[in-house]
Amino acid sequence: MTAVVHATGVQKSFGNHPALRGVDLLARPGEIVAITGPSGSGKSTLLHCLAGIVRADRGSITVAGHQLDAIGEEERSKLRRNEIGVLMQFGHLVAELTALQNVALPLLLRGESRASAAQRARTWLDRFAVGDLADRRPTQVSGGQAQRVAAARALVTEPAVLMADEPTGALDSLAGEELMAQVTLAARARGTTVLLVTHDARVAAHADREVVVRDGLVVGPPRARGAGGPSVTAEGPVAPGSPA
Ligand SMILES: Nc1ncnc2c1ncn2[C@@H]1O[C@H](COP(=O)(O)OP(=O)(O)OP(=O)(O)O)[C@@H](O)[C@H]1O
Ligand SMILES: [Mg+2]
Repeated sequence: MTAVVHATGVQKSFGNHPALRGVDLLARPGEIVAITGPSGSGKSTLLHCLAGIVRADRGSITVAGHQLDAIGEEERSKLRRNEIGVLMQFGHLVAELTALQNVALPLLLRGESRASAAQRARTWLDRFAVGDLADRRPTQVSGGQAQRVAAARALVTEPAVLMADEPTGALDSLAGEELMAQVTLAARARGTTVLLVTHDARVAAHADREVVVRDGLVVGPPRARGAGGPSVTAEGPVAPGSPA
């Protein structure tokens, strides 16, 4: 099966500080991969490079069949609009817009009609159990509810890959658990690949496998999921018997 995300030798420095020192990572269609590691190890930088938000200095990154380092800015933003959903620790909803308008926005940006965008946005708000908050603005909902709206916005375009950076980091454990259950349900139903940066073992437990980043490198093998399962490397394979 072709990889949805395939990174090789990714390097990124800030000034003379190397944040990524040659990262290899591969994620297959429908795989949920947790990216863990100590603070400052390069997890967010890696996710930003993979999402095409930050340009890597060296190495090759392919997302949904597009080689990021070989395409221009316009094509990269088109790729981000169509194939990549992004969910950060703080949802970054647009304060002036209602929940419905926030979720409809990515669809409008890619040229969908207002009526169709609103309808799909409503469906996604319902999927995340915040349909009744459609007309509220971000300041009028709880943190957990705002993160569900942000998750609906990240998935409304049905991207090939969802890139999430500490999506539950600002939530209490119950709200975090509910959000992760809904995100993984939606992703698994559609075969969406998920890259999930987290510090939280309970969040990582939603993944099929885990890769560990340390000092700007993927250090394997991470611990296998499930008792007695074989070790997996940064390039898989998924341990037999783990949820597909
Ligand atoms: N924009 C930036 N300018 C300069 N240095 C940066 C920048 N972004 C990240 N860094 C540095 O790069 C390294 C990796 O940072 P990164 O944010 O990727 O870590 P992280 O693993 O996500 O950490 P955390 O778990 O705390 O979020 C750190 O040493 C950080 O200080
Ligand atoms: Mg980070």
